[in-house]
Amino acid sequence: MNGNPTPVMIDTDPGVDDFIAILMAIRSSELDLLGLTTVGGNTSLENATLNALRTVEIEGRPDIPVAIGAAAGRTRPFEYADHFHGETGLAMALPAPGIEPLEIPAVAWLAQTLAQHSNTITLLPVGPVTNIARLIEEHPEAANQIDRMIVMGGAVDCPGNATDYAEFNTWNDPEAAEIVFGAGINTTLIGLDVCNQVAFTREIISDGAGPGRLMMDAWFAEHPDSEEFHLCDPLAVAVAIDPTLVRTESISVAVDTSGGPERGNTMRGGDGPPIDVALEVDVERAVRLISGLAL
Ligand code: BDR
Ligand code: CA
Repeated sequence: MNGNPTPVMIDTDPGVDDFIAILMAIRSSELDLLGLTTVGGNTSLENATLNALRTVEIEGRPDIPVAIGAAAGRTRPFEYADHFHGETGLAMALPAPGIEPLEIPAVAWLAQTLAQHSNTITLLPVGPVTNIARLIEEHPEAANQIDRMIVMGGAVDCPGNATDYAEFNTWNDPEAAEIVFGAGINTTLIGLDVCNQVAFTREIISDGAGPGRLMMDAWFAEHPDSEEFHLCDPLAVAVAIDPTLVRTESISVAVDTSGGPERGNTMRGGDGPPIDVALEVDVERAVRLISGLAL
């Protein structure tokens, strides 16, 4: 490791892959996880917040603060993904948390924390980016202090997973994604172009013994016909640890905010500032890094 760990904040909708991503951020000696902000998406905001609290507690880090964010997208309610992540958002039943979220709302807390750690924080939004769009609008001076943002979202050169066109996070709040991608923040986009290649299999997880392994066992038990679990949010954390895992291209990304079939689509050819879109990934190294930290 070179120097001090990078301070990171994760904006999250846990979510099985969010759970794995949070474990990684807590365990990595290269990262200093300052806190979690929650957003609905994979599940309701209430479930997402309970799951975030449970995750830090299970990992023996109840001191990591959790703040509550948006319950709905800018123009529509979130569509949850119970069929994939389970009814509570996590495939495995976890005990009720013994800790409480912060009283300060997520966006205000993000603004406060960014100001306190001026130009050092890497922000990791791995759910719908509703909170981040509000941060940019309501606290532009704090948003300017984001050192780097690694967003899990989008599908630039490949089909979507929520619809044929849209990736789940951008599908759930394309209006927010348009604001965030166009904000001129130093941004790396980790979309399905790379996430679809990085996966756990039953064989890979068989080496693990901790909560990550148990969560994956539970997910595979619920999905007997699935051979792979795509590591979308964990790949965003992996890139925060090791940016050389992906090859990026500087692209101005347009987001479809229409009410039509392409809603949530992320395309080349926007008119905003370019962002770094990950288009290739070193699959073997990424899976090794993720499984080494999470299982
Ligand atoms: C993204 O959507 C969610 O289901 C996952 O947690 C990930 O953030 C993948 O499209
Ligand atoms: Ca997520």
